[in-house]
Amino acid sequence: MMTVDDFFNKVITVRMAADKSAVDIIDQTLLPGTIRRIELRSKEEIWEAIKQLKVRGAPAIGVAAAYGIALLASRINADSYERFHEEFHALKEYLASSRPTAVNLFWALNRMEDTVKASHSKSVAEIKEILFAEAEAIREEDVQISRNIGEIGFGLLQQLKQEGKEIGILTHCNAGTLATAKYGTATAPMYIALEKGWAGTDMHVYCDETRPLLQGARLTSFELYNAGITTTLQCDNMASILMKSKKIDVIFVGCDRVAQNGDAANKIGTSGVAILAKHYGIPFYVCAPSSTIDLATPTGEEIPIEMRDADEVTEMWYKERMAPSGIEVFNPAFDVTDHSLITGIITEKGLCHAPYDKAFEALGMGR
Ligand code: MRU
Repeated sequence: MMTVDDFFNKVITVRMAADKSAVDIIDQTLLPGTIRRIELRSKEEIWEAIKQLKVRGAPAIGVAAAYGIALLASRINADSYERFHEEFHALKEYLASSRPTAVNLFWALNRMEDTVKASHSKSVAEIKEILFAEAEAIREEDVQISRNIGEIGFGLLQQLKQEGKEIGILTHCNAGTLATAKYGTATAPMYIALEKGWAGTDMHVYCDETRPLLQGARLTSFELYNAGITTTLQCDNMASILMKSKKIDVIFVGCDRVAQNGDAANKIGTSGVAILAKHYGIPFYVCAPSSTIDLATPTGEEIPIEMRDADEVTEMWYKERMAPSGIEVFNPAFDVTDHSLITGIITEKGLCHAPYDKAFEALGMGR
């Protein structure tokens, strides 16, 4: 079994190629069977990789978009700032059209554009280098952000853990290292627990399979199992019996966008987990880097929900089609968990409780 650090080094979700000629990602559509890196060079390749979930998870999408726009900007042939900015903006809008829900995509692209604007007095060649550095800064900051979330989450685990008993943690989808630059968000407390010496008997993580794209089965259980964490995989519809049988002490999930009132969009099925958790009296925490908190969106009602192709439900992963041809299919990629179901939102700046708008303000978000 490899160590956690060996694993992190093996599974680097997204990075810039050493010669800055491509965005280098692990193709997550091939996991867990094949660990293959691919290089994205054209704007279409970057767009498709985000759309097809080769790179996925809100923070990782943000990092990939930042590297992507830096790469594409490096090839802009413009002799004035105005011309450069015009072309940059068009490329930015193109990448922003790849997926609608994870706000980190727009956050990262806007931050890159703000960098261009702040550098207007510099030469185009200098701006290109500044953009590469900014994308790198976004990736590096993400490592520290998820570490902070992990430290806060680990503090909660310590409070909830009973002496001599393993703590049962449930998670949905993949908010792990594959969704970020290092520790994940929902998985960060688990990785920190490992670092602090917790053993296999101290915690037990239950991963929802996460229909239809199986991020829980293909990615989270793969990550945690390889990191040496005691891990069990269950289908989404088995979460209730697990909770009823008192195997789950706490739930950590990631998110794609948190509205100002604390409503949180995350992978489809998350809101159902939260409703079950409320029923069984289990604390339900959303792990959210501040780049995922969208103060411009007042409530979950205004969060755009991505709708995806029918074949993800009817055909993908099956040997043969498992639904009548022509059947109408409902395939939203995300749902919104009402803030009233959330015990707390863990950000890198601190743990927030309702009323969330006030808590976000107190932590200086949006400033
Ligand atoms: O469609 P995906 O796989 O990009 O959805 C990912 C999730 O829903 C994650 O939970 C979320 O992005 C948080 S990742 C730290």
